[in-house]
This record gives sequence, C-alpha cells and structure tokens, in this order.
Amino acid sequence: MPYAVLLDLVTASLSYFNKKSIVRLSDLRDFFFDKAAVDRTLLGGQNPIVYEVYDNSQPQSEGHLNFGVTVISPGKVGSEYFMTRGHYHTKEHTSEVYLGIEGEGVILLQRRSGKVACLPIMKGRVIYVPPSWAHRTINTGDGKFSFFYVYSADAGHDYESIRKSGFAKLVVEKGGKPEVVDNPNFIA
Ligand code: 6PG
Ligand code: NI
Repeated sequence: MPYAVLLDLVTASLSYFNKKSIVRLSDLRDFFFDKAAVDRTLLGGQNPIVYEVYDNSQPQSEGHLNFGVTVISPGKVGSEYFMTRGHYHTKEHTSEVYLGIEGEGVILLQRRSGKVACLPIMKGRVIYVPPSWAHRTINTGDGKFSFFYVYSADAGHDYESIRKSGFAKLVVEKGGKPEVVDNPNFIA
C-alpha cells in the first residue's frame, strides 16, 4: 500500500522505519586501513557505534525502492575518518540518490576499472550515484553526518569486493583538515 513518513530535516530522524542496523567498529575491522588502530581501540574495551541505518525496506523485487537515513558518528581510526563499509550493488545496473541533511562528509565513488570520484555532501546537496559505481560515505566533520538515500530494493550489496580490495582512495585528516590520499593497499 502507498504510505507516507515524516523526515525531520533538523534531526535527520524518520517517523517510521522497519529495519534498523547498528554498525560498530568491530564490524568494520576489514574496512579501515589501520587495523592495528582498530585492534587497540577494541582491546581497550571500546567498540563505538560508527553508523546507524534507518531503513524503509521493501520487498526485494524489481520496481520497489528502499529509502531511509544513514547517520555516521564523528570519529577516526588512526587518521581515517569514520565511514560506511561501502559497496557495489550486486545488480550493477542499479543506481541511487543521496540527499545531505546534517553535518559534513564526502561520498567516495569508484568503478571496477579503478576510476574514482569524490563529492562533498552537506545539507541540501543531492548526489546521483550512477549504475556500476561503488559508494562509501565518510564523516569529515565534528558532529553527526546524516543523509537520506533511495535505491532499487532488489539492488543487493557486494561488500566482499570492498573487503578484499578496498577503495583506491582513503579520506584522512591531515593538519586538522580532510584530505583524499591514495590507498597503498588497494588492489585493482
Ligand atoms: C544502500 C545505500 C545505503 C547504505 C548505507 C550504509 O545501497 O543500501 O547505499 O543505504 O547501505 O549508507 O552503507 P553500507 O551498506 O556500505 O554499509
Ligand atoms: Ni548503495
């Protein structure tokens, strides 16, 4: 059935969602560059929430759209800012739209050929993620970074490619500012 929800554009909260995911540092060990820094934090007894996803999940069949809000906490692992895992859609021809709501961040995009793009996201900015581009969002600010997304419900998520090869670029803090640098561990 058709339905409506409210998206609070100040607090970036949805009045309704049917799936909430909480992703902690321990879930992301394979995705951050400095795994020793992840281990030190975990061994120190801390396992912070890196991001949360509030999803309106539809049946995973062609024609439906999933939409929701992702909230990334502020923080870093070594010099790398808190971020999402990042993924290609399993159905490579599917696309996605992001709308910045709160805070500052960037979206890192990458094709399997190794071609990369990096676009800032902030309140009101709409980003189009075309088919075949992997995407990862990164919180480069001091507060929460939240955005709205919508994508094909049957797209699927290929996290394994990113787990194995990473992204060609890392977003790190240098001299108090975000910088996009080459990932020495990237496997093309
Ligand atoms: C998607 C969207 C988006 C994304 C979250 C978390 O296709 O589902 O890109 O909702 O899932 O921002 O990012 P990861 O799925 O990469 O962990
Ligand atoms: Ni996606």
